[in-house]
Amino acid sequence: MSFVKVCQLDDLEIGGVRAAEVDGVTVALARTGEREVYAINDTCSHANVSLSEGEVIGCLVECWLHGSEFDVRTGEPKQLPATVPVETYAIQLDGDDVLIDVEAESSFLKEN
Ligand code: FES
Repeated sequence: MSFVKVCQLDDLEIGGVRAAEVDGVTVALARTGEREVYAINDTCSHANVSLSEGEVIGCLVECWLHGSEFDVRTGEPKQLPATVPVETYAIQLDGDDVLIDVEAESSFLKEN
């Protein structure tokens, strides 16, 4: 496991999402609360567009193209047309530093 610093907490607005490049992977970083940040793969599983250009609604990121919504905690699609989850990545907050390990999945418990 190797966590890489990608930005500072203050670089992310609460309720916002932005892209970051980590070890060759483009990640969408969504900040859902004061100290709540999640990382999912930036590419929508429905077509090849960037989820970081979408909107954060609670714990969901909405794809701007056809409106699929993905739970940022689990990567699961919650709204059609997407039916395939996107990858999630492990995040650590070290003070105000945001670190990601793109080789490790988020440890948020998935629903069954
Ligand atoms: S490309 Fe994202 S929902 Fe279609």
